Amino acid sequence: MTATDLDTAPYLDPARSIAERIGDLISRMSVEQKVGQMMQLDAREDLEEQVLDRHVGSVLHASPRRLARAHELVAGTPLRIPLLVAEDCIHGHSFFEGATVFPTQLGMAATWDDGLVERVARVTAVEATATGIHWTFSPVLCIARDLRWGRIDETFGEDPFLIGELGSAMVRGYQGRGLDDRTAVLASAKHFAGYSETQGGRDASEADLSRRKLRSWFLPPFERVAREGCRTFMLGYQTTDGVPITVNEWLLSEVLRGEWGYDGTLVTDWDNVGRMVWEQNVQPDYAHAAAAAVKAGNDVIMVTPRFFEGALEAVDRGLLTESDLDRAVARILRLKFELGLFEDPRAPDADRIAVVVGAPEHAALNLEVARRSLVLLRNDGLLPLTDGATAPTGRAVGDGTPRRVAVLGPLADDAQAQLGDWAGSSGQVDWMPDGHPRAMIRTVLDGLRATVPADWSVDHARGAEILTLEPDPEGDRFPDGQPRWPVVVPAPVDEDQLAAAVEAAAASDVAVVVVGDRIELIGEARSTATLELIGGQIALLDAVVATGTPTVVVLLASKPLVLPPSVDRAAALVWAANPGMQGGQALGELLLGIVEPAGRLPISFARHVGQQPTYYNQIRGQHGNRYADLTQTPAFPFGHGLSYTEVVYEDLRLDADAYSIHETVRARVTVRNVGERPAHEVVQLYVRDVVSSVSWADRELKAYRRVVVPPGSAETVELTLPVEACSVVDAAGNRVVEPGVFEVLVGPSSQPEALLAARFEARP
Ligand code: NOJ
Repeated sequence: MTATDLDTAPYLDPARSIAERIGDLISRMSVEQKVGQMMQLDAREDLEEQVLDRHVGSVLHASPRRLARAHELVAGTPLRIPLLVAEDCIHGHSFFEGATVFPTQLGMAATWDDGLVERVARVTAVEATATGIHWTFSPVLCIARDLRWGRIDETFGEDPFLIGELGSAMVRGYQGRGLDDRTAVLASAKHFAGYSETQGGRDASEADLSRRKLRSWFLPPFERVAREGCRTFMLGYQTTDGVPITVNEWLLSEVLRGEWGYDGTLVTDWDNVGRMVWEQNVQPDYAHAAAAAVKAGNDVIMVTPRFFEGALEAVDRGLLTESDLDRAVARILRLKFELGLFEDPRAPDADRIAVVVGAPEHAALNLEVARRSLVLLRNDGLLPLTDGATAPTGRAVGDGTPRRVAVLGPLADDAQAQLGDWAGSSGQVDWMPDGHPRAMIRTVLDGLRATVPADWSVDHARGAEILTLEPDPEGDRFPDGQPRWPVVVPAPVDEDQLAAAVEAAAASDVAVVVVGDRIELIGEARSTATLELIGGQIALLDAVVATGTPTVVVLLASKPLVLPPSVDRAAALVWAANPGMQGGQALGELLLGIVEPAGRLPISFARHVGQQPTYYNQIRGQHGNRYADLTQTPAFPFGHGLSYTEVVYEDLRLDADAYSIHETVRARVTVRNVGERPAHEVVQLYVRDVVSSVSWADRELKAYRRVVVPPGSAETVELTLPVEACSVVDAAGNRVVEPGVFEVLVGPSSQPEALLAARFEARP
């Protein structure tokens, strides 16, 4: 075909319908081109081979330089089918130097603020699309279960309802006004489904889940975003009931495509197809694996280079037909046509990059999210350190004299560690070994220096190291080419460092100790056996608290950790879940009282690793309610978070005593601020099904509302609860509302003692 023939080809004519264009293009594609179109390859490998020999349809992890080369190569191919360019923009466009890196998803979840999360996703989309990205592998809708799992930080926490709300907000933000909007990026709900149900927290181990359990807790957030129009779903690595999710006909065909009517695009996770051959040993060779994956409805095959040979062999051997390939190819091409990539491949745009990437207004939003993501877990009254009103020249609370602050700990001034996983130097890409520009990141030390009154002084000492690394004796790569991380060795206590920190604390009015985890303890294949602070951190906390200097512990940790008893003797405890580039500034402002604490836990904190799992919505019924040697109660429950004021919940009322199943309950509660500072409350509504035909969670979150209540005033807050949401999954696996009595529980956290109760009857 000559270039002129091609120019008049119907598929290149934007005036034609998408269906017509897809049909025309598919009719021109060879079987090799179809197989290649289904493949997504790692752009760090041989691009010439990928584009010219394997006709690849999509790439991921393309550095800006490699991306330009990939587009250039595609422009010289016979059909010039544009690439779909994907990246893990999970909390900002984190693998583009200088982009805005927000708090991790778990940090965002602590805001309990859908609107804010939607704005984060929108900004991420604006930045990512300027750099030529079309598709982000976000949001993660896995439910946090065992806290030892290395990917807890990527989740929205442990509650399916909260995950569904925040996940939908993120999808709306990414996809914007629709795919023809040049700032829209395709969202991907992942990892469908059940990936987080690990064995002992071990990453991607068999997820031992019944269909009923999936329907009860794991699937609802996915169903929610499917109905929200999330254009792609990523399938987890794991097997369930012995079947890899990639080929789970029940989940993919019956539930997702059938019951939910989902017509979006499915992408496997990294080498899921190869994994069936070399890891899970459930397919004899790549031909069978490729055939099974295509027949099960997968469209894009992520990083299984041998899918190419496997699928071609499968066609030759009659395991697959070309029309099986056509179904998947059509779905991929639909996305490309809807994005308008044939007219404009949406390559990186230097002018837009200069204006939008890391833009000041994005940093301002980032600061806002970071402020709201911080959770004040305990406070004996030391915080806030000033009245905040006129900071940085605010008066110290108390006698008003200038203060000396010691900012201590290995994470007090560690800019890259503060960003957490999926950010710059976290290990997934090789073009940013030093991470993001230091000047863009405010550490806790920076934040306190910037926010304390001018006549205060700030000293700093590291006090401890966290870990060192040793090479894994099994090598530095897994068989699929992904990095095999070095082995973590807890650092010994460094007596000199410790002594310097103790000296600084003893000479100060306040000590702020910043401890937590580091990237080497976070992420894929980096689950932890323990949840304790490691290295010299416990010794540091013990020694600083023992000085008698009032101590604020800042837990800068990707996930809830177990804290030593000395933290109970500290004056205050704040959790910052990898709070992003502005996290240190936000922490400074919080401690100084320039902003109010607003975050609430989207996940429970354990007292001991042996309490796993600690999520609040567990099934009723067990012998006793404690371990012989420890309580079962969490250290801090789901929904918990303090203010600098005192709030009282009063007078919960429902607008009726009985409702039909199609009606909506209106619950009203009075939230009274009896303290002296504004309250940023998250009013939480839980439901208890008093008697159900099957055992069920004691209470489940069904609604929440953020309100700001000024000091000395009261606010009547209305929450709505569709009776249809008061469902259980019955023994046959059907989600049903069972008529009968329900309790509506409203309050500031999931802790039963903190909740007011009112009853209603659901009538058939
Ligand atoms: C594997 C991870 O499980 C997934 O979350 C990610 O999107 C892909 N790798 C691509 O990096």
